Amino acid sequence: MAYRHFEFIEKHVWTLGILTAIMVSLGGLAEITPLFMEANKVQPAEGVKPYSPLRLVGRDVYVREGCYLCHSQMIRALRFETQRYGHYSTASESVYDRPFQWGSKRTGPDLARIGGKYSDEWQLVHLMNPRQVQPESNMPGYPWLAKASIDGTDLQARMRVLRKLGDPYSDADIAAAPEAVKGKTEMDALIAYLQGLGIDNEPQVKTTASEAPASDGGAR
Ligand code: HEC
Repeated sequence: MAYRHFEFIEKHVWTLGILTAIMVSLGGLAEITPLFMEANKVQPAEGVKPYSPLRLVGRDVYVREGCYLCHSQMIRALRFETQRYGHYSTASESVYDRPFQWGSKRTGPDLARIGGKYSDEWQLVHLMNPRQVQPESNMPGYPWLAKASIDGTDLQARMRVLRKLGDPYSDADIAAAPEAVKGKTEMDALIAYLQGLGIDNEPQVKTTASEAPASDGGAR
């Protein structure tokens, strides 16, 4: 009996199309919805705080200048990565990253844990002209950042938007922001941002045997 309905559907291309679209959407929703739920469940790891005003500006400079086009910020759970860069990246580290800077393009090294690897002076010289410290580097220099001042009001607006999205900035934090970046350049901000990477958001997780980075086959 039910077969008659199938025959009807198969002979009417629009009905077939619409019913197919409905079924595919249901399937899509069933797969996608749980992922959205899960994303909201990720909590900041212990010690992970929203960006300080100066580092927030630095992060925006990082995004604006397209540093992510050559640098990832995601250490994979593979032995050769964790030995080179440190603890593999976790989702709870980047809860305050909007948008996140994970990426997979590595013309240059991963920067997820670059904080503290070099001095502020090294970072400055390198960002002004990378070839001064790495003669073979193909990274561009960003000398104009050292002359670019920071707009405190704009920064406050950004913090308010982030608060709407869930970052726990207080009214006092936002009010104090322009003072915190007063007299600083975008270069100072970018360096502050880099120097906190992997430090201000270092995961305090203990690696258990089951989540230990995958072995590379015994080579050490
Ligand atoms: C065209 C690709 C490219 C772009 C764009 C780029 N970099 Fe690089 N970066 C490199 C390469 C290649 C290296 C390795 C050689 C060197 O140290 O200069 C590097 C190295 C670095 C290092 C040192 C990493 C280490 O572990 O030694 C830092 C820090 C860095 N880049 C920051 C930045 C920032 C911040 C930006 C954006 C303002 C940026 N890079 C944009 C290619 C790039």
